[in-house]
Amino acid sequence: MLLEIPHLLDPPQLAKLHELLGGARFVDGKLTAGKAARRVKNNLELGLEPTRMGMLVRILMSAMGHNRVVQFGALPHRVSDPIFARYLPGMTYGDHVDDPLMGAGPRLRTDVSMTVFLSAPETYDGGELVVRTTFGETGVKLGAGDAVIYPSSSVHQVAEVTRGERLVALFWIQSYVRDPARRELLYELGLAREHLLDQEPAALTTQYLDRSYANLMRMWCEL
Ligand code: NI
Repeated sequence: MLLEIPHLLDPPQLAKLHELLGGARFVDGKLTAGKAARRVKNNLELGLEPTRMGMLVRILMSAMGHNRVVQFGALPHRVSDPIFARYLPGMTYGDHVDDPLMGAGPRLRTDVSMTVFLSAPETYDGGELVVRTTFGETGVKLGAGDAVIYPSSSVHQVAEVTRGERLVALFWIQSYVRDPARRELLYELGLAREHLLDQEPAALTTQYLDRSYANLMRMWCEL
């Protein structure tokens, strides 16, 4: 399941991120790539600056913590530090799957990948995130402040940027539920549950659905 998340960041958050990233130093993205990905990765990434990174992480984590699509769609258990990537004309990232384990300290398993678009789409050409699904390829290019989540196991690429600059933040999430099909089922069931709890909180069908959701979570969640 590929889920788009409109307005993950509000305009003040987006402005602050751009301010913080404006004066930052970017380095060759191959430095953070695994052996296979290194061959196809051609971009720039924010260099190691702990203070700046700390401020960036706080803004993004707060936005993710308050976002219902992220919470219900990804069921996040642990979230990686972000990578901020910059693509200039000629840059691209060919077909790959993301590394299964990430993190310098305690490692997390990557179940869900997240791209937060930071550049307005009209300011650059190309640069679509292309995700291969069972139904074919889906190209994603969203507004500044919007995000998309998709299973880390899916083959994806970033199309070559041919004009302007594509700036994105990337996160990886270890989900309480590692199987994408189960996450999708829980996501839709969770939406139905929310709706019924709002509309008919006392109805027996609401109680049945609420209990089934809780017990499916209990059955499938891993800590
Ligand atoms: Ni990737």
